[in-house]
Amino acid sequence: MAVELVPGVYWVGAIDWKMRDFHGYRTEAGSTYNAYLIVDDKITLIDTVREGFIPEMMTRISDIVDPGKITYIISNHVEMDHSGSLAETVHRVKPEKVFCSPQGKAGLSRHFKEDWPFVEVKTGTELSLGRYNVTFLETPMLHWPDSMMTYLKEEQVLFSSDGFGAHLASSERFDDNLPNYPANYRYELMKYYANILMPMGTLISKLLKQVNDMGLQFKVIAPDHGLIYRKNIPMVLEAYRKWAAGEVEPKALVIYDTMWHSTEMMAGALVQGLMDAGVEAQLHHLRHTHYSDIVAELLEAGLFLLGSPTLNNGIFPSVGQFLTYLKGLKPKNKAAAAFGSFGWSGQAAGIITEELKAMGLTIAHEGYRLKYIPDPAEMNEVRALGAKLAQEHLLKG
Ligand code: FEO
Repeated sequence: MAVELVPGVYWVGAIDWKMRDFHGYRTEAGSTYNAYLIVDDKITLIDTVREGFIPEMMTRISDIVDPGKITYIISNHVEMDHSGSLAETVHRVKPEKVFCSPQGKAGLSRHFKEDWPFVEVKTGTELSLGRYNVTFLETPMLHWPDSMMTYLKEEQVLFSSDGFGAHLASSERFDDNLPNYPANYRYELMKYYANILMPMGTLISKLLKQVNDMGLQFKVIAPDHGLIYRKNIPMVLEAYRKWAAGEVEPKALVIYDTMWHSTEMMAGALVQGLMDAGVEAQLHHLRHTHYSDIVAELLEAGLFLLGSPTLNNGIFPSVGQFLTYLKGLKPKNKAAAAFGSFGWSGQAAGIITEELKAMGLTIAHEGYRLKYIPDPAEMNEVRALGAKLAQEHLLKG
């Protein structure tokens, strides 16, 4: 069934209970593809759903109106989780107009090679639907160049596309029962931000300022994934402000892979040292914790230590994969250091340190190495190093 947000405005999206991988991001809780229907003189559909979910969306639309009566489609974002069923929707509905940003028109044209009745809109463009009016806000790179948001003025509803979204399938459509249900929602919100939007912190800070300068008020924020906010709007805005600004907590992650457990011994001693200093510490083995979960935890961490043994004069493949993924996310305001056990050549710590420097992170140590298996005295030394790094990078100032 469709779900009404405000009078005449409905959620008509789909719930994907099965999705476990979103282009490499592990989505253990599934997701939703939130499409919205505004029933006015010009019946308007905002976004569609992933390919394969069109029957679900059309059933919900049909619950309210005959889909053939849809006059306008607004496409806030080209990515296929929102446009995957757009071609079929346009074919069935035959809308008078398809509104999108200039980059959206270029992207949709390239994706679908169709001559749809596009109308390009820009920030501040207004569109009357009858009793309701919407205005558009271009948000390039949040999350693709074409991205935009749509604001329903009379009811103060922001259709925020990927912004403020979370990959979580649930029977709940609204955030009213947070924080008690759905479980772990803030974590999913944080994980989404870390994996999708972390590189765009500067743009998000600018967007939040622009929204403030424009005096936009929100009664409802309706993203394209996860819950619709009508109660916890200050919470999500503050979370985005904090993450975009790169504010961190006295929290450290020790992330590693290991060959014969020596680097693992060092990782355990470092975590103990961090705990000795009284900071929050987590230990993640790269073949046991998925990299998309690690970067979620890393978002609010001020320090991380990355360990690898030396394998064939290089780093472990899992460590290389993690570094590649992390580099693309452009983490900021973090201190970091490499560590690892080695047998004879011992290049891994140096290679990791260079990668960390290339990311512009604060290097907390030039790379801590130990030959073969740490002895008790060395384990004490590693533990003391963990405490020292916590003191220097998480607890001072
Ligand atoms: Fe939910 Fe960038 O797509």
